[in-house]
Amino acid sequence: MATKPTKVTLTFDNDILPVELPILSGTLGNDVIDIRTLGNHGIYTYDPGFLSTASCNSNITFINGEKGLLYHRGYPIEQLAKNCDFLEVAHLLIQGELPNREQNKTFRTAVERHTMLHDQMNNVFRGFRRDAHPMAVMVSVVGAMAAFYPEHTDVSDPKLREKAAIRLLAKAPTIAAWSYKYTSGQPFMYPQNKLSFAENFLHMMFATPCEDYVVNPVVSKAFERILILHADHEQNASTSTVRLVGSSGANPFACIAAGIASLWGPAHGGANEATLKMLDEIGDISRIDDFIKRAKDKNDSFRLMGFGHRVYRNMDPRAAIMRETCHEVLNELGLNDDPMFKLAMRLEKIALEDDYFVKRKLYPNVDFYSGIVMRAMGIPNSMFTAIFALARTAGWIAQWHEMHTEPSNKIGRPRQLYTGEMKREFAPINDR
Ligand code: CMC
Repeated sequence: MATKPTKVTLTFDNDILPVELPILSGTLGNDVIDIRTLGNHGIYTYDPGFLSTASCNSNITFINGEKGLLYHRGYPIEQLAKNCDFLEVAHLLIQGELPNREQNKTFRTAVERHTMLHDQMNNVFRGFRRDAHPMAVMVSVVGAMAAFYPEHTDVSDPKLREKAAIRLLAKAPTIAAWSYKYTSGQPFMYPQNKLSFAENFLHMMFATPCEDYVVNPVVSKAFERILILHADHEQNASTSTVRLVGSSGANPFACIAAGIASLWGPAHGGANEATLKMLDEIGDISRIDDFIKRAKDKNDSFRLMGFGHRVYRNMDPRAAIMRETCHEVLNELGLNDDPMFKLAMRLEKIALEDDYFVKRKLYPNVDFYSGIVMRAMGIPNSMFTAIFALARTAGWIAQWHEMHTEPSNKIGRPRQLYTGEMKREFAPINDR
């Protein structure tokens, strides 16, 4: 087997001397060429969308898209989803290790003690129109936390960073649930610390002061899985946004609010909402063939939402787990004969067998199944991305925290290839 290269030499077709660059290896995954010194030679690289560029070192999450692998701190996602609850996974991501019994209790108690919002924050919610999208409310309320906890503008103190992590993780479900309650016109429901993290969110979403919401254990287990499967996913757009904002020393609430804003985009966190919209549009099993035809037609911009993935060229391991959960929930709730869910399952079957999708390795992705599960639970489409944001808060905090402990951390400041006007002379307004 050929030995791995340790350096590369860049040569130019003029009189610039060759530049030698080291190659760095991680513990898993691709090696990278270290181009940090290239700028000293007056040369920069061009890589819009960071398609070939690693922006940081990270010990948190590893993905191999070809093989369909996802590990958090070395643990395969399948093992975590099967054996842990969301707070254990959040502890793993943020603190670096799965908690032992005592650490678990301490972490859980710390989160429980911070689930309530400052009472004045009710007024922040009440400033919005009642039809505000929950993501618009979440971005604002999370950003507004900086006004309530000004001590967190100091990001150099690890103890304060830990406190901010707990505050964000604990309050995210309350903020997400209240953003729904506000738009539905129902009173806010306060968190109940006797419930698990997942149950508590479902209670704040669905209970009212007049009626308890008894959480179905199959539903709460499925919700726990949705949270675990969305907790972190390496250096995606929202995580990179959190790191970039954080690199300037901005407070943690501003960083997470920026992550939520990035996640809101339809190319990122909005796909599960888009899947359900598409299923509604298809409307009936008899129309599936037409839509499959449209998805294959190169002259039609329609794509089968909830299918395919930029990184996974194999079954997304999260989708495989969510698929199982999806079938459990539909069985438990007696929804297998519901026309919308029948349609979804038929679409899944056709796409898994169709030559076009098989050849291109276009498997149903995690958003296809999580959208169906959330619809079955009675969660409205507009809340899907907000729930993704609530889960991803764990990963964003872990990545933000890691960035601040990294000695090589620098303010993010990309270069550009300028393609505008050359220098020109100013002309007074009457001469233009
Ligand atoms: N329906 C029909 N054809 C598709 C689809 C689809 N959903 N996705 C990809 N293709 C085709 C595409 O037309 C191309 O065909 P050809 O080789 O003949 O030109 C081939 O498959 C490869 O596609 P690509 O555009 O190179 O793939 P990509 O990596 O650029 O796109 C994607 C990945 C996720 C944006 C795309 O699959 C897509 O638009 N899917 C639907 C939206 C969706 O479900 N997004 C959620 C992704 S998971 C979110 C997360 O993890 O955060």
